[in-house]
Amino acid sequence: MGMNRYRFSRRAEVLGKSVYDHASGVIMLSVGSAYPPILPDLSREAASSAQGYLAEVMQYGPLMGLPELRETIAAYVSEDSVECNAENVLITNGAKHATDLACRVFTEAGDKIIVTAPTYMTTLQCLRSHNLDIVAIPQDDDGLRTDLLEQRLETMRANAETLPKLLFDVPDFHNPTGITMSLERRKHLLRLSEQFGFVILEDDPYRRIRFEGEAIAPIKSMDQNGMVVAIGTVSKILAPGLRIGWAIGAPEIVRRMALQKSDGGSCPFTQRLVIEAIRSNKLHEHIEIVTKTMRTHRDAMIDALAEFLPDAKVRRPQGGYFLWAELPKGVSGDALAAEAVSHGVEIGSGRLCFPVEDPGNFLRFSYSYVDPETIREGIRRLGDAYRKIAG
Ligand SMILES: Cc1ncc(COP(=O)(O)O)c(C=O)c1O
Repeated sequence: MGMNRYRFSRRAEVLGKSVYDHASGVIMLSVGSAYPPILPDLSREAASSAQGYLAEVMQYGPLMGLPELRETIAAYVSEDSVECNAENVLITNGAKHATDLACRVFTEAGDKIIVTAPTYMTTLQCLRSHNLDIVAIPQDDDGLRTDLLEQRLETMRANAETLPKLLFDVPDFHNPTGITMSLERRKHLLRLSEQFGFVILEDDPYRRIRFEGEAIAPIKSMDQNGMVVAIGTVSKILAPGLRIGWAIGAPEIVRRMALQKSDGGSCPFTQRLVIEAIRSNKLHEHIEIVTKTMRTHRDAMIDALAEFLPDAKVRRPQGGYFLWAELPKGVSGDALAAEAVSHGVEIGSGRLCFPVEDPGNFLRFSYSYVDPETIREGIRRLGDAYRKIAG
């Protein structure tokens, strides 16, 4: 078949290769999928949803989501001091969908969006497909460098450049770096958003999966002026297969986001399932199980890296699913990721997470999907691959 048979969109050309194309038959330390042995059994909730709510769950649902789920999510986030009503809550097909809808509502091709460097790789694909101009700001141990962001914004203003409309960040247990943003930085970021007029997309899938340390208030909980859209999901705390997430923001934002849905709205059956799972306390029980399990996975990965890849500088995440490692300068993350596959383990090259310039020597790991023993074996294989390419 000829290369030029179809006239694909620019968007399709940009996303020619999926970050989800995986090698087969290898140990997967690259995906943030749920750990299969602890996937929740929701068969009772499924039966009661199908039997008790037939007319609701087999019908088109409202674009904003089921009113009861919107109320349930408003109550859930109030546990983190996010004060909102059902009218602020939009139900989506997961967090990624919410980010995409926010881009549709706020941006034209060429508009600027601020992200951390590195950032969540799938969001980068989304931003590229919207033809956005990505402004990359580094992080340190306290999260996004708001001082550098402020300088950048002031320079843009002084040069009469158009200012960014949006900022995307993952303040709790960031994907990929695992960093949690300090309270002071959160407050500074909020001030900057008011001063320079950009909306913050606070993507927060991992907040409840904390292994140690104190929780820090969500940016949304401090948002007096409607500058923040908080994005959440059940993917990491219950089950990613449900495809249920949400966006919380000013009604004039989330209603516009709902109208950008091109799929007729999220599935009422899985929405009802989630309502039932929250009401029966299954969600909260499951969060405890996930947290306990992920802590042992994290520990296994940290220990194995110290044993088999001591050259890598690793930041120990206090929660979440991901771990970020820096290789010695000159060792290529791309080359190691490729060599790793032939040793039977898949990891992510850091390049996928960098919006603009890739320093070249980073790796992204997820410890969520395989058991601690397999994590250890995977890192052992990675150590072999490393010695092969680093000499
Ligand atoms: C930061 C971040 N946002 C969103 C998602 C995906 O969420 P969902 O499955 O709800 O689309 C992930 C999953 O890895 C993530 O790390």
